[in-house]
Amino acid sequence: MNIVVGNLKGGVGKTTAAVYLAAVAAEAGHEPVVLIDADRQASSAEWLEERPIDGVEVLEAPSERTLARAMSRHDGVGIVDTPPGDERLVQSAIAAADAVVIPTRAGGVEFARVVVTLAMIPAKTPRGVVISAARLGTNDLDETIAWWRAEKVPIWGVVPERVGIAAGPEARLYRQGLDHYAGVLRRALRRR
Ligand SMILES: Nc1ncnc2c1ncn2[C@@H]1O[C@H](COP(=O)(O)OP(=O)(O)OP(=O)(O)O)[C@@H](O)[C@H]1O
Ligand SMILES: [Mg+2]
Repeated sequence: MNIVVGNLKGGVGKTTAAVYLAAVAAEAGHEPVVLIDADRQASSAEWLEERPIDGVEVLEAPSERTLARAMSRHDGVGIVDTPPGDERLVQSAIAAADAVVIPTRAGGVEFARVVVTLAMIPAKTPRGVVISAARLGTNDLDETIAWWRAEKVPIWGVVPERVGIAAGPEARLYRQGLDHYAGVLRRALRRR
């Protein structure tokens, strides 16, 4: 089982989602949990180097070949963090995914990149959106939710903007964030 976290747009919360999803998968007792970092920048690999998570193994797989191998060579839950720009790599990750989590931000979103990402997902592959760093009660958020509904893409999570999440590897994982991403994981697994 591989859950690919992808959005061609950068800075939308992919790495944050991947690390939190891996942590909650381990908390939920899935074994093994493999965090597969397909981003050359290795943000999630570095995060776990700084703050290892019990029960989560990290594999760096920054090429199509290493990624295909990493995704096929485990029998647990793989969470794949992808790079923003690399269409071919993202495409190959998404093609092999059992579920796709699409992090996005509310407000001023350039939907174009998102539409390209959506078009890569095979019709039968479950997919859902996570709205990262959401400001609850804003028009931006309401409009973004309405846009996704119109696109008929389920919203698997709305994660509020929190300093504790923005801290990344500088702090330990933020409990409220873990609870939100646990909901995302449940939805991703249920829709298999
Ligand atoms: N819920 C949140 N609250 C506050 N900040 C957040 C939240 N989620 C993500 N962020 C912040 O948003 C920024 C971008 O997140 P992240 O690095 O996960 O995005 P990314 O899509 O992986 O970026 P890239 O495309 O560069 O790989 C980071 O500074 C991160 O800490
Ligand atoms: Mg990233």
